[in-house]
Formats: sequence, C-alpha cells, structure tokens
Amino acid sequence: MTTAQDLDVTPTPLALLLLGREADPSSERGVDCPGDLPAPSDPGLVERARAAKERLGEKVFVLGHHYQRDEVIQFADVTGDSFKLAQQAAARPEAEFIVFCGVHFMAESADILTTDAQAVVLPDLAAGCSMADMATAEQVAECWDVLTEAGVADATVPVSYMNSSADIKAFTGRHGGTICTSSNAERALEWAFAQREAGAGKVLFLPDQHLGRNTAIRDLGLAPGDCVVYNPHRPNGGLTAEQLREAKMILWRGHCSVHGRFSLDSVNEVRERIPGVNVLVHPECKHEVVSAADQVGSTEHIIKALDAAPAGSKWAVGTELNLVRRLAKRHPDKEIVFLDRTVCFCSTMNRIDLPHLVWALESLADGKLVNRIEVDKETGHFAELALERMLALP
Ligand code: 13P
Ligand code: SF4
Repeated sequence: MTTAQDLDVTPTPLALLLLGREADPSSERGVDCPGDLPAPSDPGLVERARAAKERLGEKVFVLGHHYQRDEVIQFADVTGDSFKLAQQAAARPEAEFIVFCGVHFMAESADILTTDAQAVVLPDLAAGCSMADMATAEQVAECWDVLTEAGVADATVPVSYMNSSADIKAFTGRHGGTICTSSNAERALEWAFAQREAGAGKVLFLPDQHLGRNTAIRDLGLAPGDCVVYNPHRPNGGLTAEQLREAKMILWRGHCSVHGRFSLDSVNEVRERIPGVNVLVHPECKHEVVSAADQVGSTEHIIKALDAAPAGSKWAVGTELNLVRRLAKRHPDKEIVFLDRTVCFCSTMNRIDLPHLVWALESLADGKLVNRIEVDKETGHFAELALERMLALP
C-alpha cells in the first residue's frame, strides 16, 4: 500500500500571489497551483471529486470549515468550527491524508496534531488569513522584550487565538500559554489568569483584539480600562511601562477583515428594517457590535442557535456569508438575513473551490502528494504544547 512517505512530493513553486500585507515575506504567501487545474465550467467536477474520493477510500479524510463554499462542503467528512476541526484532525490517526478545506493556520494546526505518517493537504496554498498575518514571530518577540523591559513579562501568560501562525503558537507554548478558539476563549482566559497568584496575572492576547476584549469584558467581567492595545507598528507598542503594569489584558492590534466590517449601524439598520429580529454575531466582531447583539458565539454556536430557533423567528447573522446563506437555505421556515449588505465573503476561505479540491484529490489518488502543509519539528513541538493545553481545558 502507498503511504504518505513513499509518494512523490512535488515541490511547489513559490510566491505568485501575495496575500496579507503584500510583499511582507513573513505573511502566509499564496502560490500557484503546481498542476493542471480543471476548468470551473467542467460539468463533471462533482463526479470527478466523488470518484477520486472513492479511489482513496479510507486513506483520505476531508475536513471542512463552516465558511467553505457549498460546492466544497458537500465533500467534507466532518464540518466544524476551528476547535471541532482541530479535535477531529487529532482523532483520525488512521487517515493517511487529511485534506483540509479551510485556511492555512488550520492546516498547520492539523499537521501539528497528527502523526508524522500522516500528510495534511491544503487544496489551494493561497488560502491564508489576513488576521494571522497581523502578528509575525519577529513582532511578537519584540513585544515580549517590551514586556520584559517594563517588568511585566513574568506576570504575563500568552493566550493565542487559533487564527495565528504556527510560529505564534510555538511562542505561546514556550512561554507557558495556551491556544484558544472562539468556542473556548472564556475557559482559556480563566485558565491563564489562574496560572498566577490571584489578581497578579496578565494576559497577552494574540492576534485578535476583538475576541480578546469581548471575552474579557463580557465573560470575565473585566472593565474596558483593564485592556490596553499593543500596536506592533509603534515603538514599545505605543504603550508606556506604567500602562503595561496597570493592564490586565494586553490586546494585540489585529482583527478579522470580514468580521471587523460589521458596525453598530448595521445592527441599528437591521433592527429598524426587521422588527423583532434577533441579532446573532461572531465574537470577532467589534465590541460595540457584540454589545448591541442579542447573542454571540462561534460558528458552531451560531448553527446550533438557528437549529433550535422556533419557526417564524427572525435572525440577522454577523458572520461569513457562505455560512449565513447555507443556514438561510437550511431553515426556510425562519427568516435569516446577513447582518450587513455590504460585507463580503472571506476571500481566502473562498480560495478553496471545487477545481482545487478535485485537483488535490485526483493528485493524491494518482500517488502525487501536493500542497502538503508541514510545520518544522521544533516549532511543532512548542506549538503542540500550547494546542494540547487548549484541548485539555475543562
Ligand atoms: P470559528 O469557526 O472557530 O468560530 O472561527 C471563525 C473563523 O474566523 C475561522 O477563520
Ligand atoms: Fe481569517 Fe477572518 Fe477569513 Fe477567518 S474569516 S479566515 S479570521 S480573514
């Protein structure tokens, strides 16, 4: 039987398309597909994906994030939010190939959590995440120096959102911290504060300031004044040593380019347009949006809330459009609208389309390992420490 190790690993030519902050060499860079992509208009694509998956049988396991396109999600063996997909990747040691329909940081986490005999494949390497690109390893190392200089590093526990590179996860593991996702951020913060004497600890939250602030204020009852924002583009993060000493939450200045666009105006407008509407948003939205919403939660929470909602109820949902459209289709008896008419799809999540999935599956079935995502051993070791702390959270 062919194993991941005996396959012909095709090296991928680098850097055709740059994502994130354009020419920044440490951003998650996009590359061209190193093979012949089928035409999107090919009417046989669905059949080809099905046939390739069948040829691979038990050897392949396809994970699909909720923000993926319908044309892709139909081939996922499991769909889920970031947390569920990390758990699922770790729970499939028998699958030689994990095809990750999601974005780069998710595939990296899957590689870290799977065995060396397994290969994780991202069908389009240009599927990065602009939020993850907002915290580079160099910037975070510099931030730690600033905290050390201010005399607060010993009191600080890093908590990094899953939406971060493997380097940032490794930094977190090295400094005694944990990873979190939007479904366990509250428990992660409680865990982090419990690592220090009561009242003495601080958290450095990376890279999404909104998830950090929302969780600290809404779930842990901290005051807005307990949070400061560290701006990696300003000397000393734009903060004085005294501000750092007084803060409980040091929030990295990063955000999601999709969720960051929902505004208080979108909430007010939809409430006026649809009387009685329930506003349900993801915690990557700004604090003012989350405060004005009726419910807040991860993608998995959003799906469960709408599944449980009574027929005839009305919902405006502030998260990625693929998921909102799918939910509206799944519940024709409920009125489900997108919170803001001008916010668009997550462009990087959308990179994974049926032609890329067909190409990846057919390549694997033909014995060619393409687009493998591999984290180096040392980074993987420390990143795994941080991920395992998350998986062990109560
Ligand atoms: P969750 O699926 O964990 O809610 O994350 C949302 C997200 O932005 C993933 O990129
Ligand atoms: Fe990144 Fe936001 Fe897209 Fe998620 S939705 S992958 S956080 S840009």
